[in-house]
Amino acid sequence: MGRLQDKICIITGAGSGIGRASATMFAKEGATVIVADIRAEPAEEVAHAIEAGGGRARAMVVDVGEESQLATMIGSTISEFGQIDVLFNNALFINTEMAMRDGDFLQWDPEIFQANLRVNVIGAMLACKLAIPHMLERGKGSIISTSTGSSLGGDVTAYSYGSSKAALNWFVQSLAATYGKRGIRSNAILPGPTQTPSKLQWSTARMDELFMEVLNTPFIGEPEDIGAMAVFLASDESRYVNGMLYSVDGGQSCTVPFVSVTRAMQADA
Ligand SMILES: NC(=O)c1ccc[n+]([C@@H]2O[C@H](COP(=O)([O-])OP(=O)(O)OC[C@H]3O[C@@H](n4cnc5c(N)ncnc54)[C@H](O)[C@@H]3O)[C@@H](O)[C@H]2O)c1
Repeated sequence: MGRLQDKICIITGAGSGIGRASATMFAKEGATVIVADIRAEPAEEVAHAIEAGGGRARAMVVDVGEESQLATMIGSTISEFGQIDVLFNNALFINTEMAMRDGDFLQWDPEIFQANLRVNVIGAMLACKLAIPHMLERGKGSIISTSTGSSLGGDVTAYSYGSSKAALNWFVQSLAATYGKRGIRSNAILPGPTQTPSKLQWSTARMDELFMEVLNTPFIGEPEDIGAMAVFLASDESRYVNGMLYSVDGGQSCTVPFVSVTRAMQADA
C-alpha cells in the first residue's frame, strides 16, 4: 500500500522540474495525479510516462493565471474522481526578458510585479478558493505550495519574484489557520537551488560554484529532493503539520550569513 494510496492529487506546473518529479513520485505512492501545466506536450508526456509505469494520471492544460481554467481543472477533477485530497500549487511565472529587468531595481516595473503575482499568488489562491469547499465537504485535504528560500529575507535581485513568494507564504499560513480545525492543512516548501530546467536556464557553472559555498550539503538539490518533502506533506504521515514553511535547501538557511567568509578564511590559513 502506497503512502498516497487512492488519493486524488492536483499538481500545477507538473510538466517540468519539481512538479514533474513530484507527479512521478506521487503516482508511485498510489495517487491519481492531475498533471496540470500551461504546456500541453510536457503535461501529456508526464501523464503517459506515469501510466506506462502502471500509475494513474490525467494531463490537463491549465494556465493558473486564468480563473476560468482553474474552475475547469477543479470541476473536471471532481466530476471524474469525486474528490480532491491534495492541491499542490507549484507553477511559477516564467518570462526571461522580465526576469532580466527584475534584477535591477531601477528597472522595477509594476507590470513585472503583477505578472508574477498573477501566477505565483493569485493563481495559487484562486485554486485554493475553488478546491477548499470540496475538501471541507469531506473534512480533509492537504494544500502544498512551492515558495522559495528567497522569500525569507531581502535580496539584491528578483524583486517581483521574491516578494510574490513572500506574499504566498502569508496566504499559506493564513489558510492553515482559517481551515486547520476543519481538517485542511496548508504548508509551503521553500526550495534552495534545485537542478530543474528553469534553474538550468538562469544559472551558470560559476553560480553553482558559489552556491556550493552557501550550501551545507556536498551537492545541489535535484527535483526529487523537493518531491520527497511534497510526498510527506501530501500524506497522512504529516497530519499534525500545518502552516509550516519548510526550507528544503541543503541547509543554506541554517547558518549565519558570513559562514562562507569564515570558510574562505579557514581555507586561506
Ligand atoms: N529550481 C529552483 O532552483 C527553485 C528554487 C526555489 C523555488 N523554486 C520553485 O519551484 C517551483 C517549480 O519550479 P521549477 O524550477 O521546477 O520550474 P520548471 O520551469 O522546471 O517548471 C515550471 C512549470 O510550470 C509551468 N507553468 C508556467 N506558467 C504556468 C501557468 N501560468 N500555469 C500552469 N503552469 C505553468 C511551466 O510550463 C513548467 O512546466 C516554482 O514555484 C519555483 O518558484 C524553484
